[in-house]
Amino acid sequence: MSKSNAGSYTLTDNQTGQNFELPVLHGSIGPSVIDVRRLYAETDHFTYDPGYTSTGSCESKLTYIDGDEGILLHRGYRIEDLAENSDFLEVAYLLLYGELPTEAEQTKFDSDITYHTMLHEQLINFYRGFRRDAHPMAIMCGVVGALSSFYHDSTDITDPHARMVAMYRMIAKMPTIAAMAYKYSIGQPFNYPQNNLSYAENFLYMMFAVPAEDYEINPVLAKAMNRIFILHADHEQNASTSTVRLAGSSGANPFACIAAGIASLWGPAHGGANEAVLQMLNEIGHKDNIPEFVKKAKDKDDPFRLMGFGHRVYKNYDPRAKVLQASCEEVLGDLGINDPLLELAVDLEKLAREDEYFVERNLYPNVDFYSGIILKAMGFPTSMFTVLFALARTVGWVAQWNEMIEDPSQKIGRPRQLYTGPAERPYVGLNKRG
Ligand code: CMC
Repeated sequence: MSKSNAGSYTLTDNQTGQNFELPVLHGSIGPSVIDVRRLYAETDHFTYDPGYTSTGSCESKLTYIDGDEGILLHRGYRIEDLAENSDFLEVAYLLLYGELPTEAEQTKFDSDITYHTMLHEQLINFYRGFRRDAHPMAIMCGVVGALSSFYHDSTDITDPHARMVAMYRMIAKMPTIAAMAYKYSIGQPFNYPQNNLSYAENFLYMMFAVPAEDYEINPVLAKAMNRIFILHADHEQNASTSTVRLAGSSGANPFACIAAGIASLWGPAHGGANEAVLQMLNEIGHKDNIPEFVKKAKDKDDPFRLMGFGHRVYKNYDPRAKVLQASCEEVLGDLGINDPLLELAVDLEKLAREDEYFVERNLYPNVDFYSGIILKAMGFPTSMFTVLFALARTVGWVAQWNEMIEDPSQKIGRPRQLYTGPAERPYVGLNKRG
């Protein structure tokens, strides 16, 4: 299942007629890659690929996406199977260690993770420094970055044990950090984690329980939460994961790398889209207004895009969106909620998918299209949507980061550029300018 390098690709310099042989590397499945590592040394040319639309940046064994067929595999397992049958910490184990755990391995892993769910008490002071109306992603970026100043014993990235402790800490503390950001914003006391609960249950408890009352966990919500976490656990070399890898390639500590990933995820073209979808649906307001918004999305002079639509890799239905749409109907049905936004989303999807513009460009709903509606039904405020994405994606980020550190061919990430600024020129004194 490792890469092989049979075959090569011949590049011809049109000016000199000289040929260059570039090796072609084959993975276990998916497109092969042309290995251009020696290109500059041999041809004096760089490749140019802003947005990395044709560039593989690393070798990885974690996640595979077939964008044409709409397939997502973690360590070979279909996302639909994992979402239906697995538990988030089981998926975390799978991503970190490559295999589904045995019962004993799972019990040990769960207990090792829950051992780290509490935050250093002094971190509470960090929260108090934020404005009450701060976006929880801003709080999360700050608090996660600050973790490196509290957990010095897990910042030695050359020590596999220290790396493992750092990864476990991140996975364990993220729900606590996220729930505290929410509680702070609404002025309620923080809840300490409850290690007798599952990962998803504990998060719901820390989010929604108050000390004045008993909190009963709704199993429908816990199941949906677990599924949402699984669906967001990893997604190959997307912007935030690549950011984590790039930050980590310099040897930066893992807490700082994850804070960088959170910052990258925040943007509306990436994890911020789930929040933007709900804002867009609210703006549309009524199904009669859908055609106007679809028209705006197609207008090249208008920056508006249909949020939750389109994907760099999927040119088919995002399999995560399919699972979420079904879950959405299930959860709303179970909770007895009749949300007009769901109807609006279904109508919008239908209209867009019949439209030539969207058909031609293979623009389908992505994971963010339905996640906001389900999260809203579960009681999460819009500003927490991207936070939940970050919480779940932390598993993928740490697994990818660790895979990179363990890769013997790993080097600091350092892209080059096509320089189009002025050539060298003499400095001109102030009195001689203009
Ligand atoms: N609405 C209208 N037109 C679109 C959309 C959209 N949502 N997405 C892509 N297009 C058009 C785009 O204008 C371009 O048209 P043309 O070929 O005429 O110039 C064509 O489709 C290809 O788009 P692109 O911008 O070259 O594609 P990309 O791979 O660079 O961008 C994307 C991918 C996800 C950033 C983009 O589809 C988008 O902005 N979607 C809306 C935001 C969104 O839902 N993001 C969540 C992504 S999935 C979860 C995650 O990664 O976090």
